[in-house]
Amino acid sequence: QAFFKPIQNTASPSSTKRHTKVSVIGVGNVGMAIAQTILTQDLADELALIDAKADKLRGEMLDLQHAAAFLPRTKIVASVDYAVTVGSDLCIVTAGARQNPGESRLNLLQRNVALFSHIIPPLAKYSPDSILLIVSNPVDVLTYVSWKMSGFPSNRVIGSGTNLDSSRFRFLIADHLDVNAQDVQAYIVGEHGDSSVALWSTISIGGVPVLSFLEKQQIAYEKETLENIHKAVVESAYEVISLKGYTSWAIGYSVANLARSLLRDQRKIHPVSVLAKGFYGIDGDVFLSLPTQLGRGGVLGVTNIHLTDEEMERLRESAKTILEVQSQLGM
Ligand code: NAI
Ligand code: 2OP
Repeated sequence: QAFFKPIQNTASPSSTKRHTKVSVIGVGNVGMAIAQTILTQDLADELALIDAKADKLRGEMLDLQHAAAFLPRTKIVASVDYAVTVGSDLCIVTAGARQNPGESRLNLLQRNVALFSHIIPPLAKYSPDSILLIVSNPVDVLTYVSWKMSGFPSNRVIGSGTNLDSSRFRFLIADHLDVNAQDVQAYIVGEHGDSSVALWSTISIGGVPVLSFLEKQQIAYEKETLENIHKAVVESAYEVISLKGYTSWAIGYSVANLARSLLRDQRKIHPVSVLAKGFYGIDGDVFLSLPTQLGRGGVLGVTNIHLTDEEMERLRESAKTILEVQSQLGM
């Protein structure tokens, strides 16, 4: 006998609402930070977890399920078999090797490309209409690899890119000027990593363009101070990795922020890794971060920001760095 006696001829609201399914591949530090942020922010009706380590995977699934009494209702499933991901709207890939202290992201390439050949084809098979959101490093090159391996159109293959670097940048500027980071509009573009580019000319706080304001007020600012803030962004991950071994909380929030824009069709602009060919004079099939409008269809467009000659030059250099690494892959 059922616990509740059903009321006849009443359509349940849940039967008419669209079912949203998210899969997270890799339940390490990053995958779990993303999973728990997605759960607390009520972004999915179903969450599927995949990892190569069956025991760890089941343990993480149970641990999350045991929080059900404190969270919005989400069905949580997990398996080493990709069939569990069937019909996903969004697949977030975090599986793979991470950096040792002092190691660069680009150094992870060969190890993680080999893993991706076991991850991307089954995801594409079970969820042919999904959006792929790549997080594993080096994220720009692995987003290119995922685009190639999935055969998906480029608007549905996105790398988390410099959404995280830009958040670090906004935090450091806000801290420097004692304002709220959410009021700081500032972008880091290019590679998620050492050759990233800070777009100083576009920074505004509460609608006030920062550099031109300082110039108009004849407030001297040191180019070196600006360079040091960008340097601190680039060094952020190295510092956290040397202190705690990995980064997790900021990337968890950063990816949940992207998931919200995609799944809820927010049409917000995020610096994420997209196929950059044809934008800002970039040539070649290279994925790198540009300010991109995201919605339910994935990439909706790329913002046409006015860059200074120096910013443009640095962005092209960043593209060159990624393309050089990519050329080792022969794909
Ligand atoms: P971790 O070692 O804690 O977790 C990696 C997980 O991947 C493990 O659970 C492992 O069992 C799983 N895995 C390995 N091979 C697999 C396969 N073939 N199929 C399924 N699962 C597999 O590492 P962590 O700290 O979670 O980092 C994961 C990745 O995310 C790294 O590449 C790291 O560099 C990257 N990362 C990227 C960031 C970004 O901003 N794009 C930020 C932070 C980390
Ligand atoms: C981060 O920036 C390591 O890519 C990772 O936190």
